[in-house]
Amino acid sequence: MELKEQINRKKLPVHVAVIMDGNGRWAKRQGFTRVKGHEKGVGAVRDTVEAAAELGIKYMTMYAFSTENWNRPKYEIDALMKLLVRSIHDEMKTLMDNNIRLEAIGDLKSLPVKSQRELKKAIQTTSVNTGLTLILALSYSSRWEIVEAAREIAGKVAAGKLKPEKIDIHTVTASLTTTDFPDPEFLIRTSGEYRISNFLLWQIAYAELYFTPVLWPDFTKEEFFKAILEFQHRERRFGLTSEQINGLEVKKKHKTT
Ligand code: IPE
Ligand code: IPE
Ligand code: MG
Repeated sequence: MELKEQINRKKLPVHVAVIMDGNGRWAKRQGFTRVKGHEKGVGAVRDTVEAAAELGIKYMTMYAFSTENWNRPKYEIDALMKLLVRSIHDEMKTLMDNNIRLEAIGDLKSLPVKSQRELKKAIQTTSVNTGLTLILALSYSSRWEIVEAAREIAGKVAAGKLKPEKIDIHTVTASLTTTDFPDPEFLIRTSGEYRISNFLLWQIAYAELYFTPVLWPDFTKEEFFKAILEFQHRERRFGLTSEQINGLEVKKKHKTT
């Protein structure tokens, strides 16, 4: 049976997060410049997004550019920003054909004006779509986001609109750039690195983590289906025991989220 057919459509993660890593190493192995790896990576984005839409996954957040990536050589940053504009423009048909709504999180004001414009246009055009919500993390880092949230909350306290003792998990969640989206239940990272690299630290508190040695440009629909199947074989316990999860004798005394 094909991988896709083995997936239980009733047990899909609602939100999948992806750290797309390994473009540079892919290019180096082929004897190309790093930029070629990024170009090839766009195809993997298209395939993965299509695969998620085919399955009926509701949200997917893809880490495309981190705050730390601004420290890369200028020629690589420039190429990545150009590629962003070109890809969004070229992939509009894919987004519309697959009923995909585009969103973005991150310090978007720090992007070149052209990238901001193209992004805004695509977000507006696709806002009518009701299928998969594809969230691009651009100039994003979790620590940046948490600092912004702290600033917003502190501002409300200073203005007398919020009492410090009223601050809870929901206050913080509501101040993050991801406030409109549920937390990811599943995080995929490619290229054999076992780290989170400042991505959605708050939101992945209880996500299942999946690491694959496949370099991002080689990531395919089949690789995505394989990952989803692995997710469906995990037992998510949320601090409870396996017996509680399976025995239905769950009494939530201490609700934390
Ligand atoms: C991921 O690939 C893409 C971005 C971070 C923009 P890399 O460019 O990090 O590729 P490696 O990790 O150097 O192979
Ligand atoms: C993480 O990849 C960021 C993105 C995928 C956009 P990096 O390649 O920048 O991460 P590190 O530096 O290896 O941790
Ligand atoms: Mg990398």
